[in-house]
Amino acid sequence: MVADFPHLMSPLKIGARTIRNRVLVTGHIPGLEEAGHANPAFIAYHARRSQGGAGLQMTGTSGFHHTGHANSGRGIDLTQPGVEDGLGRLADAVHAHDGTFLVQLGHSVATVDYSDIGRPLWAPSPVASQVLKIMPRQMTRADIAELVAAYGAGAAKVRLSGLDGVEILGAFGYLPGAFFSPASNQRRDDYGGSIRNRVRFALEAAASVRAAVGPDLIVGMRIAGDEKMAGGLDNDDMAEIAALLSEAGSLDYLNVVAGTNYDRIMRWEHWPASPAPHGLFAPLAARIRTAVTVPVFVTGRVTDPGLAEQILARGEADMVGMTRGHIADPDIVAKVKAGEANTIRPCVGANVCINQAVSGKPVRCFHNPEAARELEFAADKPVTRPQRVAVIGAGPAGLEAARRAAALGHQVTVYETSAQIGGQLRLWANSPFAREYGLSVDWYEQELARAQVPIKLNTRLEPDDLDQIRADAVILATGSVPLTVRELPGKSGSGISMATPADVLMQTAGSGARHAVIADEGGRRNGLAAAEVLAEAGVQVTVVTGDPAVGEHVDGTVRTQLYRFLLQRGVAFRPMETVTGLAKGKVLTRNIYTGDAGEIANADLLVDWRGNRVVSDLEAAARARFAQVEVVGDSVAPRTVQIATAEGADAARRIG
Ligand SMILES: Cc1cc2nc3c(=O)[nH]c(=O)nc-3n(C[C@H](O)[C@H](O)[C@H](O)COP(=O)(O)O)c2cc1C
Ligand code: SF4
Repeated sequence: MVADFPHLMSPLKIGARTIRNRVLVTGHIPGLEEAGHANPAFIAYHARRSQGGAGLQMTGTSGFHHTGHANSGRGIDLTQPGVEDGLGRLADAVHAHDGTFLVQLGHSVATVDYSDIGRPLWAPSPVASQVLKIMPRQMTRADIAELVAAYGAGAAKVRLSGLDGVEILGAFGYLPGAFFSPASNQRRDDYGGSIRNRVRFALEAAASVRAAVGPDLIVGMRIAGDEKMAGGLDNDDMAEIAALLSEAGSLDYLNVVAGTNYDRIMRWEHWPASPAPHGLFAPLAARIRTAVTVPVFVTGRVTDPGLAEQILARGEADMVGMTRGHIADPDIVAKVKAGEANTIRPCVGANVCINQAVSGKPVRCFHNPEAARELEFAADKPVTRPQRVAVIGAGPAGLEAARRAAALGHQVTVYETSAQIGGQLRLWANSPFAREYGLSVDWYEQELARAQVPIKLNTRLEPDDLDQIRADAVILATGSVPLTVRELPGKSGSGISMATPADVLMQTAGSGARHAVIADEGGRRNGLAAAEVLAEAGVQVTVVTGDPAVGEHVDGTVRTQLYRFLLQRGVAFRPMETVTGLAKGKVLTRNIYTGDAGEIANADLLVDWRGNRVVSDLEAAARARFAQVEVVGDSVAPRTVQIATAEGADAARRIG
């Protein structure tokens, strides 16, 4: 109910404009843009979020100069002739839903690699980022003047398009931010040294944008509330900078986040994955807010409107970003208004979306198959001839298939072998880093109950049992199970027991262990999930992998936190080694490059992770009996939750 969210649902005046509520979708690149233009898929993506009620949205980093994102093939490119036409159609689509929309001007300085197109990086000083390690060239005064003018030229195109304003991206070590920070600005001219000098470029850029768009459009800047980098700017420094930005008069708001891409940890943790705390950057914004007169926004793992309301009520910010929240569910505001906030599909912080963006691919969500596929799904309509649909297996693929088939009007029944729904996901959610993913299972459970879909638990179906099922279509979502442990030489008499990560997650192994060795040949997260559980329980853990690094396949936004968690609990990493056998109290290893033998002493548990295998024993029988059979998720091949839910949705849409 709106009454429960009085701050969040109240309008906010920003410059000359009024935003209908305090819900912000901060800049992000959905990866749908075409050669720098807003195409129909991109427009549909953002229109959908305005339709769902978001107050203010903006593009992700948009190029405005040939040394920044322009011509990179990523995001909107304001240097492209005619770019304002697509942006104009975007303006019409967003305004039709009473939304407000800005374009974010971004220049990534030395933090994005364009060497593939032979482009040198421009930066305030020749300082390479810890991540890229590519040395930029120091901008001359002429370069600076060229860039200041380019901000204005980009902004002029935004004005032409009919959109509502511009955000200058100065967080994450992007251009004005790189001038702010002593970690990236070592200049001795009047753009370096004192804080006033380091703010000079930002003020010139903001004035250039303001001159181009006039007084009616919104102009804001995104800044770090704290760079969280050794030698960088802290919250007090940023408050001082924010005060100078605010008092100069060109900016209508400041949008606070944290971190800089110059730093090898904050490159990943500025878009924190679960289990980072929710709303973690709000205290930084609160400090900035005491130093300025313009409205202050904040973002960072605010996934629940209740927390957004609290941040506003506490006076920590004037507007709250719920960006991934809106990737997971574009209808947050609509559901709040309808008194159905409890039905919001939660953003569980899995960061599939960010991983996709970092790899230059379209956004995908862990459990919202419609994200960045809005055009396709917009055509879905309730069916005219409902079918009886049996969904066999209640893991993520089956749950999404059942939910969507029911939403389309089919008559759905779910059959599940075990006593609970959720499949491998529920199991995995027993580990500290995946606990929040369990909210996905809870959400599906609630949604299936609301749709009155019967779920027959403890119902293992053998091929002949299919004769008893009255269905027009069957969706097989029987999933996958872990490979059993290997036969290792020397096991007998070693005193070392063996288990799979699933055994540890189900607590059927590991209790009482003193030193567990994880043989992580399967990669991804499962072997490490066992390491998390055991380390959390105080067991000594050693992770062995033939890969160059432990967690090589874990995406960067999760890996930094995961390393911290494991290393703080004394977990030992043994990369580039493979387990060859067991001896009394010892796990024997071999270096994969040199062949040298090694050993890990005092071990009493070996957790053997090699991957999952498909469970598909019903497919032939189903195909012999039913007119339509769809096989989805891990039943096809063991893959990710995101692929499973997407396949479940697509299968449901094919029924009929
Ligand atoms: C797919 C994706 C792409 C992003 N690209 C940008 C970007 O281009 N510019 C930017 O300022 N932030 C970008 N971000 C960061 C978001 O603006 C935001 O800071 C981040 O998602 C944390 O906020 P949240 O917890 O509300 O999602 C991106 C985020 C996502 C999920
Ligand atoms: S992929 Fe994960 S982090 Fe991204 S929106 Fe979906 S649930 Fe949230």
